[in-house]
Amino acid sequence: MNNFIFENATKVYFGKGCVKEYLACLSSHYGQTVLLAYGGGSIKKNGVYDEVMCSLKKAGKNVIEFSGIMANPTYAKVLEGAKLARENKVDLILGVGGGSVMDCCKAISMAAVYDGDIWADFWARQGIVDFEPLPLGVVVTVAGTGSEMNGGAVITNEDVKVKTGRDYPRCNPKFALMDPAYTYSVPKQQMVSGGFDILSHIMETYFSEPNEENVSDDISEALMRGVIRDLRAAIENPEDYIARSNLMWESTMGENRIIKLGKRMDFECHQMEHQLGAYLDCNHGAGLAVLHPVYYRHIYREGLPKFRKFAVNVWGISSEGKTEEELARAGVEALADFIREIGLPVTLRELGADESTDLKAIADSCNLAPGSYKKMTHEEILKIFQECY
Ligand code: NZQ
Ligand code: ZN
Repeated sequence: MNNFIFENATKVYFGKGCVKEYLACLSSHYGQTVLLAYGGGSIKKNGVYDEVMCSLKKAGKNVIEFSGIMANPTYAKVLEGAKLARENKVDLILGVGGGSVMDCCKAISMAAVYDGDIWADFWARQGIVDFEPLPLGVVVTVAGTGSEMNGGAVITNEDVKVKTGRDYPRCNPKFALMDPAYTYSVPKQQMVSGGFDILSHIMETYFSEPNEENVSDDISEALMRGVIRDLRAAIENPEDYIARSNLMWESTMGENRIIKLGKRMDFECHQMEHQLGAYLDCNHGAGLAVLHPVYYRHIYREGLPKFRKFAVNVWGISSEGKTEEELARAGVEALADFIREIGLPVTLRELGADESTDLKAIADSCNLAPGSYKKMTHEEILKIFQECY
């Protein structure tokens, strides 16, 4: 194992009924005023809003509502939320939703207390902030990003066409309430794209050095097999509690830093997808599904030992009669088949790209990840986009 330091400050309350059981008590540790932040209204249809409100009222809280957080949250929305938080002297932000709501809330928790230009000082340039954001708690309603147990906030700045994020440990939620039954109402397309996002986080971590046996890769293999199994089960029966609860925890495990310990990590696909998102406003997991197989066809020869392990240990492909390269490639094709099986898109056109989309501008705006088996160039990223088109 490579050297590492590990800390995770989020306290997790996991399981059926956890909001009713713990939210009132948890919120009583903070002051009077709570900013209740959520998305486009799904929580009002599935009963989550009523349950949360009931607990906050029980705790005697003054609730300020901030709704309409969109998928791919914008910096403009962050500033709107920060203004509301400041004006009302909010003591606790409670985000109820998926990655977009949680990320927007983390950004608000910083912007509300920061005097300077938080975009310039946090997202545009790394490493120069050192302050305590407003406390944040989250109620997770969809599995995918794992944002509930990290300090990452991925935000889109529409003015400069950049979607980017970074993990600031002080933005870790103080508590995360995770009731898998809350995810029953997630539409199938969102469930599978969230599921693919989980798989992507694990693959982006797994496909990097070190290549020797290590605990992080062992856990990753088990998690990937689990995501594949549980997604299939949840598609078959959306109210399969076992599948939904596994998916919810697999999502958290993908992004709570545990499988990253001692790893270099790739995340080039995420860099590419984020810029596709900045230009096309596409769904995050769907974008990743389009990119991954094509990207891996470009890099697998540089990472043969790990891609071979992926084929055998994750997809159960027999090595008999195959060269190392054939085996590695078979794993990538098994991934591509799985993407089609679960009904995710496979072309950029399905994500909204057309002849007017400037693929070169998008490719040129992508960050180049240092941990990949093969260092990308902007020319190769453009080739990947063209192959995905
Ligand atoms: O807005 P509402 O009406 O709530 O509907 C949402 C939204 O339309 C719906 N939904 C959520 N829970 C539901 C539900 N519908 C019915 N029943 C429920 N229980 O799902 C839709 C998508 O929600 P969203 O939060 O956008 O999805 P997701 O969790 O996939 O988050 C995506 C965002 O997170 C970022 C992505 O880039 C993207 O902006 N990421 C954040 C990361 C992090 N902080 O660690 C890492 C990821 O790699 C990712 O980049
Ligand atoms: Zn992701």
